Amino acid sequence: MLPTSRSMPVCTAHQLLHACARLSSPEWLGQGGTPAFITLAINPGIPPYPGHSTSIRLCAAHRPSTGRLESRHKQEDLEQEKQQHRQNIRDQEAILIHLMCKVVNLLHSGASSSLELQLPRLSLDSKGGAGGAQQAQSCREPDQLSHQLSDSKTAFISCYLSNRGIDVSALYQSNFQDFIAYHGDKYHEDTNTLGFINLGLSENKHCIDLLTERLSQSDMNYIDDDLLQYPDWRGHAFLREEVAQFLTYYCKAPDLLDPENVVVLNSSLSVFLTLTMVLCDPGDAFLIPTPLYSGFTLTSHLYSKVELIHVHLQSKMDTQPFQLIVDKLEKARREAKFKGKKFRGLVLCNLNNSLGNIDTLDSLKEYLEFAKRHNLHVIIDETYMLSEFRASIPFHSVLNMKSLPDPNRTHVIWGTSKSFGISGFRFGTLYTHNKEVVSAIGVFGFLHGIAGITQHKLCRLLQDRE
Ligand SMILES: Cc1ncc(COP(=O)(O)O)c(C=O)c1O
Repeated sequence: MLPTSRSMPVCTAHQLLHACARLSSPEWLGQGGTPAFITLAINPGIPPYPGHSTSIRLCAAHRPSTGRLESRHKQEDLEQEKQQHRQNIRDQEAILIHLMCKVVNLLHSGASSSLELQLPRLSLDSKGGAGGAQQAQSCREPDQLSHQLSDSKTAFISCYLSNRGIDVSALYQSNFQDFIAYHGDKYHEDTNTLGFINLGLSENKHCIDLLTERLSQSDMNYIDDDLLQYPDWRGHAFLREEVAQFLTYYCKAPDLLDPENVVVLNSSLSVFLTLTMVLCDPGDAFLIPTPLYSGFTLTSHLYSKVELIHVHLQSKMDTQPFQLIVDKLEKARREAKFKGKKFRGLVLCNLNNSLGNIDTLDSLKEYLEFAKRHNLHVIIDETYMLSEFRASIPFHSVLNMKSLPDPNRTHVIWGTSKSFGISGFRFGTLYTHNKEVVSAIGVFGFLHGIAGITQHKLCRLLQDRE
């Protein structure tokens, strides 16, 4: 057993990579060694334990091989074992690639002055599997761990979290560290002139005064029984009706949009993530033009485990820089198919974050026709719908089209975070003709729904066209 405070030898990135390489060596694989997990922490605050500063301990569970040798006299057994061995190597390679990605992410997160690597000693369960998590817990005292975490703001290390939890935690650290710092020390023109100004966040603060005034009016403070009870999980009918009217008006839809095609959830990204959940199985893929909004990447990884295949746009085009053209989509689709990817659709963002581009109605039609040709879903995020600022390039929603090429595979996202500058409200909405998608997504209102009182306020805001 590793001693408590001394169980985390400090190592350099180079040593870490070396350790990963060792795990794939025949020395480990040949014995069926299965490292359950490696826990990494970026922990600049804790000095290396003397004698361990340059060494890394590798611990792995070795599956008992009782009886294997005796039965190996037959040629088939040997062959079977070789196959198993090759499979082991493939599995180990997959684990290593995953670990290397984590290492690279951690290094990229920029917090590392030293890396600590802990390889928990693994126990054997009765079936020969590795009970790594429990054993890891015994490696260190929990109190000490939390002390270290709070003291030195360790990026993450845990003997409490599952592998999935560790993954999520890593994601949180690599994506939100700056955001947390910003929230702890925000710039203020009078009280904190040395605070952070967040240039990485798209928050519209220009109409906060107008919204504060509107939200302070008496009609906003309405409460009734229904608002205090569980709502229809797709959202209260009064709000879905208002959303349908609002979108009809601002998207210039040729016909009145149907409230039954609307679902409201607690953000545009919640709508995105639930769409990927109900349209894909884990490992399925979506094409997405890049540069892209990182929220898509984070969200699809967090829940649905959908792969986003990037369609790289170029800055040098004859007509418009970074323009998406169908040829690029076709090429990306062919390449993905060739690699055996099962992909289900295309994610579009109009107006585009991060480019600011606006798609013309003609190009939108081409993208939708492309999707229809290949039976692909199109998720189109129009969250920035009301943020156009050049009259010469007007925004067109796909809901503006007389008829959608494939209505049952076209799903439109909008929300108030950008258009109204109220990202704190957490409101996003889906418009889709596909009733199966509506009902499947509706289920998520159970978890990602909006408070009744907020739904009322949102309804009043949407009614107000001034
Ligand atoms: C394209 C796009 N969609 C969605 C969001 C997030 O919106 P919400 O706060 O409603 O999740 C953002 C935020 O920057 C965005 O840029």
